[in-house]
Amino acid sequence: MNREINIREDVYWVGVNDQETSIFESLWPLPNGVSYNSYLIVDEKVALIDTVKITYHDSFIDKIKKILGNKKVDYLIVNHMEPDHSGSIKALKKEYPEIQIIGNNKTAAFLEGFYGLTDDIKIIKDAEVLKLGKHELKFHLTPMVHWPETMMTFEKSEGILFAGDAFGGFGALQGGIFDDELDIKYYEDEIRRYYTNIVAKYSPMVQKAFEKLADTDIKVIASTHGPVWRSNPDYIIDAYDRLSSYQVEEGVVVVYGSMYGNTKKIAENIARCLAENGIRQIRLYDAARTHLSYLLSDIWRFEGLIIGSCTYNTELFPPVAGLTSALLNRRVKNHKLGIFGTYSWSSAAKDSLLEFAEKAKLDLIEPVFEAKYAPAQDDLKQASQLAQNMAQALKG
Ligand code: FEO
Repeated sequence: MNREINIREDVYWVGVNDQETSIFESLWPLPNGVSYNSYLIVDEKVALIDTVKITYHDSFIDKIKKILGNKKVDYLIVNHMEPDHSGSIKALKKEYPEIQIIGNNKTAAFLEGFYGLTDDIKIIKDAEVLKLGKHELKFHLTPMVHWPETMMTFEKSEGILFAGDAFGGFGALQGGIFDDELDIKYYEDEIRRYYTNIVAKYSPMVQKAFEKLADTDIKVIASTHGPVWRSNPDYIIDAYDRLSSYQVEEGVVVVYGSMYGNTKKIAENIARCLAENGIRQIRLYDAARTHLSYLLSDIWRFEGLIIGSCTYNTELFPPVAGLTSALLNRRVKNHKLGIFGTYSWSSAAKDSLLEFAEKAKLDLIEPVFEAKYAPAQDDLKQASQLAQNMAQALKG
């Protein structure tokens, strides 16, 4: 079965679904796969918007040819050069040698650097318009959502925003392509995980893109990943607005790094005490066993964060160090932070976490404490106090 999939008349989804790649960017787990969305507009001139990962170029070009027959693709609009979207450009050029590639003044260097392509590139400026016939495309430069060359393309007659990575999510499309064909709840967590893993560092740039598009009458959101939002684009616009403006919910993520269970014991005590103090959304994670991808996603969601770590080779336990580094990289905001450390002969975890707290500029909840060897009664008392203070601060 290989049916044509229309977004609107003469506008087609020609993306592919990747259920084979296990880690996106060789970093982020894909238990539910991912889609690479590409779109075809058939008019007096034919325009393709973005391509797909190179692995899928055969089925991608088959889809295009099935729609176009002997007609040619006149334009390839490159909204984004990350190879999950630009990977099939060379294969496409082989099939359609006359194709005119359209990008902005940052795109050309990527095309040459990745693929050795130096000709046939039409450079557009911000707000420039390209007429295909009855369809008109307006280009909006949106740098750093997610790379410097990223832009969005707005189709005026149908109000379709081809948004690049913005408004995207993990999760392959499993039959349903459009928001009105899907169980949106299924995609909710995967959208947040995608955002926090891939886009979150550039949240201020996402907000800038919102400002830029404020007067644009968007009726359909067509991202490079995940569902196409044709019935309720506000759902994904609101979700991205919340995520990129650091809005949080009441709840606490407790993450610990523990070699032999002593740090874990303190973390469990804290989680229990949070529950006794009325916190209903608690996520307790072992940093060595839950992938950073999921930790980031839940931390971005909930206002409270408590990190505990043992000392390992006179430093933070490596999975916890990876987490604090990733949080600093993404400039996490609007959180209340609790920290504690443990050690046996050389204290380091607590001070390293204090250093993280200072750099992250988060609201530090007292007490900050450390336990030597196994936690003593007094350490568990401090743990309870930290949980009580955190619950009070969140409900405050
Ligand atoms: Fe889906 Fe930044 O590429």
